[in-house]
Amino acid sequence: MTTYLVTGGCGFIGSNFIHYMFGKYGDEIRIINLDALTYAGNPENLEDVAGRSNYTFVKADITDKEAVRKVFAENSIDRVVHFAAESHVDRSIVEPELFVKTNVLGTANMLNCAKEAWDNGDGTFHEGRRFLHVSTDEVYGSLPEDNTSFFYETTPYAPHSPYSASKAGSDLLVKAYMDTYKFPANITNCSNNYGPYQFPEKLIPLMINNALNGRSLPVYGDGKNVRDWLYVEDHCRAIDLVIEKGRLFETYNVGGHNEKQNIEIVQTIIDVLREELPDTDPRKAKVTYDLITYVADRKGHDRRYAIAPDKIKKELGWEPETMFREGIRKTIAWYFDHMDWMEHITSGDYMKYYEKMYGDRD
Ligand code: NAD
Ligand code: TYD
Repeated sequence: MTTYLVTGGCGFIGSNFIHYMFGKYGDEIRIINLDALTYAGNPENLEDVAGRSNYTFVKADITDKEAVRKVFAENSIDRVVHFAAESHVDRSIVEPELFVKTNVLGTANMLNCAKEAWDNGDGTFHEGRRFLHVSTDEVYGSLPEDNTSFFYETTPYAPHSPYSASKAGSDLLVKAYMDTYKFPANITNCSNNYGPYQFPEKLIPLMINNALNGRSLPVYGDGKNVRDWLYVEDHCRAIDLVIEKGRLFETYNVGGHNEKQNIEIVQTIIDVLREELPDTDPRKAKVTYDLITYVADRKGHDRRYAIAPDKIKKELGWEPETMFREGIRKTIAWYFDHMDWMEHITSGDYMKYYEKMYGDRD
């Protein structure tokens, strides 16, 4: 039985990944989820798998040497899937050092503990072990608006935000471990994800939640920044494929040529909400383009991201399966069905964060 150590499994992509893996492999695998439960980690995301005998939750910080070492000492870990990170650009602008601690030092600790546990003592590592480092396209910086340039695996790193700089730092550490120790790892650099369980500080769930509550929809700057959106399950499938079939030591870019300006995303959300809400629902009358409010731009706001997924397509046959309109429809349907999930999240600290971030932007 293959044992996975998933870090950050209570977050957005991590919890989708755990659902995806149990859905695909059932009792053939074992998953240990190590998560510090920061504001972004929500055990409710994994309520339905919590009782499984092949699932274990460990509350620990990835920067905590002893705690991570203990997990490796007590379990024979075959694969590490490293999601845990501080992930929100706006927060990184306010609190950069936390991003360095978690993303850079945390990754260094994960690498060290895995290296120590898998070491054969002769410069080789236990057969078949793999460390998959989950990263972002933001490490490549910002593209011009020409719609002809893309991020390839060979594109030089040029991060701009404290978030992307800290992710770039973590990627470079993984590369250094592969080069120096022949440590068995891969890196995936994925574009913006959307789907169920995404914390409502990120563009899509924030807009859905605000629209349903009749609140303004804060669009940064001119709304023409471009992101390349991927349905989260397609990302999970790519990660599983890279672990199983990817060439060791390689980086794979993951994205589906789905570039959209932010304003298009916000308009699509309003359109789909209006289609889905019955006329009898009192919220419907308020969900209109009038909610769109242009606010002060994000500092250092990257203009355009766009992934060239040629390598993962050619080598592993990966392609996105969920088209954007369908993905947005599924996402909105999920939020409709999980209003209590959203309420639990937004009732406490998140509202304080919202006031702090947006209070002086309007
Ligand atoms: P998220 O913020 O939703 O979840 C992060 C998880 O990590 C949370 O469960 C949190 O509790 C946990 N965590 C944070 N600090 C920790 C620490 N010190 N120790 C242990 N656990 C800790 O993030 P996400 O959107 O699910 O992103 C997951 C990974 O994927 C990140 O590495 C991110 O850089 C990468 N990524 C995200 C996107 C995206 O669009 N969201 C795109 C590409 C890559
Ligand atoms: P976000 O979801 O924070 O992802 P990232 O910055 O990692 O790409 O933001 C996506 C885009 O949406 C980005 O260009 C910033 C913009 N944005 C807004 O216009 N308004 C908002 O309230 C948020 C959260 C983001």
